[in-house]
Amino acid sequence: MPDSSSNTSYFLHSYGCQMNKLDSELVESRLVEHGFEPAPTEEAADVVLLNTCSVRQHAEDRVWSRLGRLRKRKRGQPELVVGVLGCMAQEHSRLLQARMPHVDLVVGPSAFGDIHEKIAEARCRNLAVRDADRGAGLVSVAGATARDIAADPDRIQRNVAVRPHPSQAYISVMRGCNMPCTYCIVPLTRGKEISRPIDAIHEEALRLVADGVTEITLLGQTVNAYGRDLGRDVNLSRLLRRLHEIESLRRLAFVTSHPNFLSVELAETIADLPRVSRYLHLPVQSGSDRVLRAMKRGYTVSRYLERVELLRERVPEIELQSDFIVGFPGETEEDFEQTVALMERLRFAQSFIFKYSPRPGTSAAELVDDVVDAEKARRNAVLLEVQGRHSAERHRELVGSVAEVLVEGWSKVAGRMTGRTMQHRLVHFPTADVSLIGRYVSVRITEGLAHSMLGELVENADAQATLMQGQV
Ligand code: 5AD
Ligand code: SF4
Repeated sequence: MPDSSSNTSYFLHSYGCQMNKLDSELVESRLVEHGFEPAPTEEAADVVLLNTCSVRQHAEDRVWSRLGRLRKRKRGQPELVVGVLGCMAQEHSRLLQARMPHVDLVVGPSAFGDIHEKIAEARCRNLAVRDADRGAGLVSVAGATARDIAADPDRIQRNVAVRPHPSQAYISVMRGCNMPCTYCIVPLTRGKEISRPIDAIHEEALRLVADGVTEITLLGQTVNAYGRDLGRDVNLSRLLRRLHEIESLRRLAFVTSHPNFLSVELAETIADLPRVSRYLHLPVQSGSDRVLRAMKRGYTVSRYLERVELLRERVPEIELQSDFIVGFPGETEEDFEQTVALMERLRFAQSFIFKYSPRPGTSAAELVDDVVDAEKARRNAVLLEVQGRHSAERHRELVGSVAEVLVEGWSKVAGRMTGRTMQHRLVHFPTADVSLIGRYVSVRITEGLAHSMLGELVENADAQATLMQGQV
């Protein structure tokens, strides 16, 4: 392989979900291992990579416009390497090469294990184009967009030292999705479910913990369906129990769960394991059976409620988070009111609310997108308002209590740091002590806001904080 990677700098933009952010980390670790250096800004980089998301149109629009700007830059700098990675690469590989001929690399979400080689080749080619003075180097290198087993990132040993946070890390436990949700592009871009063996995940967790990680979040599109492709006795509960044995691991979380796979066994496992985080991201999407059927979510509102009940019965301190889509084709005012009523009834800790956007290739895209944008925006605002009220009320109830907070870093407000509790609540508190980052501290809550709580440091005592686990 050419040694053009030494002194070659890269800049990576990440769009989309946690899985994408983890993929970006894995890409970076491949690059750093092979001699590439991170550039301080996009403008200073020899290689610009966009790790893209296709879940909603808005995320794609941002990528197209950034690519437009990069085209201008590449006219004057033909050796620049531009790469599109992730879901858009999979979904729009032909369109990208036709509309954006300055893009050198198009690499789908399961094919970046050998990304360093692909970039090094593109770099050599572009340098040759520049030196041959052939003007703008409009070279297209077709990348692997199908699932490329040899380059599958989960098969390559992860460099655990390359990660953004000293004490927190994600592990991908499965890729792809087998669910039939009619609005969703993920099964098309990320393919069928493939779970990683428990031993491989355990080994990765051990290496992360040995390197200082104390909080691990397991990632999968339907993470609680983990293992069903690996045999009858492999499931998320077994994986959690195995990882929970790692002594210096203090928090173990998992996202995203699907209501249909929320079993009694899983609820009991969470109840049994004190270091499993006390929150569950369990998207309901809608409070109308009619809409849920059209979405092919595979459950009714009452079935969802039953699952939540069984969970809350066994793990009373657990907090629920949800996703909602407003303005799905055919969603009437009455359907929407049912969603509001469900939200009022369940009082989620946090909700992510999305205006429906048709994704070409999905079956919902065949339906008439009949809820006008202004109405989608209104419904979106209503749900945000309801959720904000619930979160603020809950946060205010907690004023005066003491929470164990894992400190993540500086908050946007000067002189404050930010962290999260075992229930994933966001807490800001004043301090100037940078050494707290990555540590567990006790914070007394002094104020409850819609999206976070404010507090003050009680004591920077890791041992005492352990006692508080699971309380706030
Ligand atoms: N339009 C709007 N929101 C969507 N989501 C997935 N597909 C779409 C779409 N076509 C939302 C769902 C999912 C979250 C990750 O994104 O709520 O849970
Ligand atoms: Fe998309 Fe449904 Fe799979 Fe979630 S479960 S990734 S919404 S198809």
